[in-house]
Amino acid sequence: MGERERWGTRVGLILAMAGNAVGLGNFLRFPVQAAQNGGGAFMIPYFICFLLLGIPMMWVEWSIGRHGGRYGHSSTPGMLQRIWDNPAAKYVGVIGLFLPLIVMTYYTYIESWSLGYTFFTAFGSYWGAPEFEPMVNFLRSYHGYTGLDLTAPGVGDVGISYFSSVAPAYAFFVITLLVNIWILSKGVSGGIEAIAKIAMPALLIFAVILVIRVLTLGTPDGAFPDNNVSAGMGFVWNPVPEALSSSSVWLAAAGQVFFTLSLGMGSIHCYASYLRENDDVALTGLTTAATNEFAEVVLGGTLAIPAAVAYFGLERTQELAQSGFDLAFAVMPTLFQQIPGGQLFGSLWFALLFFAGITSSLAMGQPIMAFLQEEFGLSRKRSAVVLGGIIFLLCQPVILFNQQGFLGEFDFWAGTFGLVLFATIEIILFAWVFGMDNAWAALTDGADMRVPRGYRYIIQYVTPAMLLIILGTWLFGTLPPVLANEPSALYPNGPAPENIPFINAARLSMIGVYVGLCLALTWALKSRKATS
Ligand code: TRP
Repeated sequence: MGERERWGTRVGLILAMAGNAVGLGNFLRFPVQAAQNGGGAFMIPYFICFLLLGIPMMWVEWSIGRHGGRYGHSSTPGMLQRIWDNPAAKYVGVIGLFLPLIVMTYYTYIESWSLGYTFFTAFGSYWGAPEFEPMVNFLRSYHGYTGLDLTAPGVGDVGISYFSSVAPAYAFFVITLLVNIWILSKGVSGGIEAIAKIAMPALLIFAVILVIRVLTLGTPDGAFPDNNVSAGMGFVWNPVPEALSSSSVWLAAAGQVFFTLSLGMGSIHCYASYLRENDDVALTGLTTAATNEFAEVVLGGTLAIPAAVAYFGLERTQELAQSGFDLAFAVMPTLFQQIPGGQLFGSLWFALLFFAGITSSLAMGQPIMAFLQEEFGLSRKRSAVVLGGIIFLLCQPVILFNQQGFLGEFDFWAGTFGLVLFATIEIILFAWVFGMDNAWAALTDGADMRVPRGYRYIIQYVTPAMLLIILGTWLFGTLPPVLANEPSALYPNGPAPENIPFINAARLSMIGVYVGLCLALTWALKSRKATS
């Protein structure tokens, strides 16, 4: 193997890391979580989780990553081995490959919807039906749902045409995947960093234009004086202290902090491993986290919800946000049809989502790329092709059985529960097995800032304790009803009986992927021993 890959410049590194964190989570998941958990009621737990879980975990992952990079590791199996000298460490580290692989599968698919919708909006494909119901049906038909009543008056009978199959969505997915794989094949500084330098400034400009547009929406319909932008902003920002006692709000807040900061996945570690030995991690890690929060609460918080409240009112907005993707892909298209210049602003919105998405999906792919290069000695191009093949295969059921719950299952187990599980394991290994003195040195060596001493105790006690409580709540509260097919956090009314075989297949395929990765690793280790 040749020279280790490195980031080109510090600015490039920061943009790539910001690109990693800033994603669909900021513009799509955050508003939905905030709306579902009472707006301002969500914000206090959210900020506390950011300070006590987000920042410390960000530092932990940068430190593990740079430390592993010193030994030539860019994926977590090798990295964890360096902080925990035990044969099991590598297989625990496989979680840091499994999660980004599963999440990348459905994330790339969602990213491809925003690419599709950028065009549909620019060409006005759904113009002519400025109501929520037809826009939901447009979305469902794009996803290839069957059983939609597209002829009912006021729903189907509105003069726009719906998709008759999932083929267009499939085509946009293939394009999106190819672009991702092509960029990854160009390497860390030649691909990921180069794209981040274009996509991140573009994203900021798009977001600022859209924020100004939203803030000047005022009260669109004089007949409904309560439906206005200030009511939306108030909903997001007025704190509701009573909600502090709701455990489900806390779980949602913690989950959002993890997802939006890309924590608990093995991805931050991977990017940090391309640092030089004495490059700062403390200040740069903190800068990444702060940049993400700016994009999330200031930009993300000012777009979808305030705009939706101005047109639909507060109550309806909360209702419409109940089902995950409708806010971005059905509510927003409804109101783009009502505002002057909606085609332009709408295209900007979806292009923004696409740019945010692609810099994140690259970050999910890179750990696998590194794994294939390090453990199997594949070239970068070959690794990219193998990764592309795996994602392509895994995505088939996600696309074809989205309606039956495949995407939701992947998102729940890998994108929500998995992050908490892996983060808990990591911080215990780092602070307690590697040891707090080593851990502190791994964080503060070469640091460009003084890390507040209090964070030593937070990393050692507070964050692990909080994570153990959260993990316990998952294991003993959230998961049992899901596994028993009862009404649960994942299926509020219980899963539909006809979907249960698909749900089981989704779970089995995830187990299969984890086991497959472990076997691949074992095989790579054996064949390396045989040749050395
Ligand atoms: N942070 C990303 C977002 O907000 C999503 C994400 C979660 C992610 N885990 C990741 C991105 C791992 C890259 C790597 O959309």
